[in-house]
Amino acid sequence: MLSVRGLVKAYGERRVLDGIDLDIAEHQVVVLIGASGSGKSTLLRCADLLEEIDDGQIFLDGRDISDPRVDGDVERQAMGMVFQSFNLFPHMTVLGNVTLAPRVVHGVNRRDAAERGRDLLARVGLSDKADAYPDKLSGGQQQRVAIARALAYDPRLLLLDEITSALDPELVGEVLALVRELAEAGRTIVMATHEMGFARQVASTVAFLDGGRIIESGPPEQVLVAPTHERTRQFLRRVTDAGRA
Ligand SMILES: Nc1ncnc2c1ncn2[C@@H]1O[C@H](COP(=O)(O)OP(=O)(O)OP(=O)(O)O)[C@@H](O)[C@H]1O
Ligand SMILES: [Mg+2]
Repeated sequence: MLSVRGLVKAYGERRVLDGIDLDIAEHQVVVLIGASGSGKSTLLRCADLLEEIDDGQIFLDGRDISDPRVDGDVERQAMGMVFQSFNLFPHMTVLGNVTLAPRVVHGVNRRDAAERGRDLLARVGLSDKADAYPDKLSGGQQQRVAIARALAYDPRLLLLDEITSALDPELVGEVLALVRELAEAGRTIVMATHEMGFARQVASTVAFLDGGRIIESGPPEQVLVAPTHERTRQFLRRVTDAGRA
């Protein structure tokens, strides 16, 4: 479905992504792991056409969406992105947040948008919060609203960037449970995360980034359990030690 070929992204002289090749098939969950600064967010932002790229191509269903003649705003509708900070509009209710883009960007009428919005909120377990304002919700609930909002266009691909790392530990589980449900329902997902247990259980493919390159990728039982590269082993040792500390 999504295919990244030779992707290069530089900030000034520095290549933050240095020739990334990545393929994501329908219904797959691809988990990006790697140290802070390795390029995970940049890769997701490039895939979502939020960054200009310096070289390479991004194909969606075989079409080159990185072509400068392509309308990024149109292509981006195939993708739903969720960030670490939930970015909900504080002055709008939960339902208002979830229905904003369909109403404003797509001209869906208020009643249809609200009906679909309530349906989405039910799916993320927040039917009773439709009329609440974001500041009355826990972080985990706010992040579930952000996920509902990303699902509003029924995107082909969900891009999740460390969506649990700003949450208190006791709230991480509810958001990961939702992602797992979406994965089991067949959503195609690319997710950057430091949650190795989750990656091991849910990922179809784990890709380890280091210095803007994919050093190693494959099924979780290979990359996370029996990595072949020393860099991957070092990284995994560090994260498991940090988890134990
Ligand atoms: N707008 C920018 N201008 C200049 N440098 C940037 C910009 N955005 C990111 N970078 C640099 O690109 C590199 C990769 O950043 P990126 O955010 O993709 O890493 P990451 O793997 O997502 O890290 P983290 O785990 O901390 O989220 C970093 O060195 C960062 O400083
Ligand atoms: Mg990041």
